[in-house]
Amino acid sequence: MADATGNKIAKNYYLDTPAQKTGFHVKGMNHADWGMKDRLSRIFSKTSGNTLMLAFDHGYLMGSTAGLERLDIVIPQLANDIDVFMATRGALRTCVPPDYNKAVALRVSAGSTVAVDDVTHEFLGVDINDALRLNASCIAVQTFVGVQGEEKKSLKNLSGAVNMGSKYSIPVLGVVAVGKSMQRDTKFFLLATRVLAELGASVVKTYYCEDFEKVTAACPVPIVVAGGKKLPENEALTLAYKAISEGANGVDMGRNIFQAENPAAMAKAVRKIVHENYTDATAYEFYKDIIK
Ligand code: R5P
Repeated sequence: MADATGNKIAKNYYLDTPAQKTGFHVKGMNHADWGMKDRLSRIFSKTSGNTLMLAFDHGYLMGSTAGLERLDIVIPQLANDIDVFMATRGALRTCVPPDYNKAVALRVSAGSTVAVDDVTHEFLGVDINDALRLNASCIAVQTFVGVQGEEKKSLKNLSGAVNMGSKYSIPVLGVVAVGKSMQRDTKFFLLATRVLAELGASVVKTYYCEDFEKVTAACPVPIVVAGGKKLPENEALTLAYKAISEGANGVDMGRNIFQAENPAAMAKAVRKIVHENYTDATAYEFYKDIIK
């Protein structure tokens, strides 16, 4: 309990030293409040400014996915080299020990599966209270900009998540999905990433494209690049390297890590690019050294 008497007199006000500027290391988030910044700091390293997210939320629409058949075995093999678990609440609670103390990008949208061959119909399935219980560092919502009949619904989901998240300072990760009929071109990604940021997403996940530096420059919040379908390991490292070199603040990679010939080595190699300025060539040499 604080004492009312006998205390030292406060005197050291450093009157000759201006207040420190409180620049924050996450793009566009300087005016966010303390809780939001705390959560974003769990995602983005203060040293590199970047993040390595492991996406293993595939099961919510693909069911058992190659490489993720046994989350309880796979995730512990990769966890040390990962900054953020991107996952569903079901996967976290059943298969991921809570004592890794990793940031969590909690998948909160759901609503369709590959069984109907059209995965654009989503709703917000997770209540904000459950996101709090899981100590989510951000909540992830899929969006379908440009998809006829789905755009409005998914942007409503995103806005709803931003409204929910704002109440408790939980950032939203807006995920850019590409409709079957749509072009993966610069024009589309410029549109979609900016729309998500303007609607309140604090982080945007998108695919890499030509002129990617324009996409990252025009997006006022950090971009993390999606991995996408499995590529040969050297090409996946080149994707990560180009994305980081052209302004992304991280990668959110799934299949290109957990379906690699050696997933643990791949996670380490991608990490070198994300946090230690490795090029794709040096990271691939590093990968090969581990697996030989
Ligand atoms: C993408 O929108 C979903 O989050 C996926 O479930 C996941 O992130 C895909 O990861 P990757 O394409 O790197 O396997």
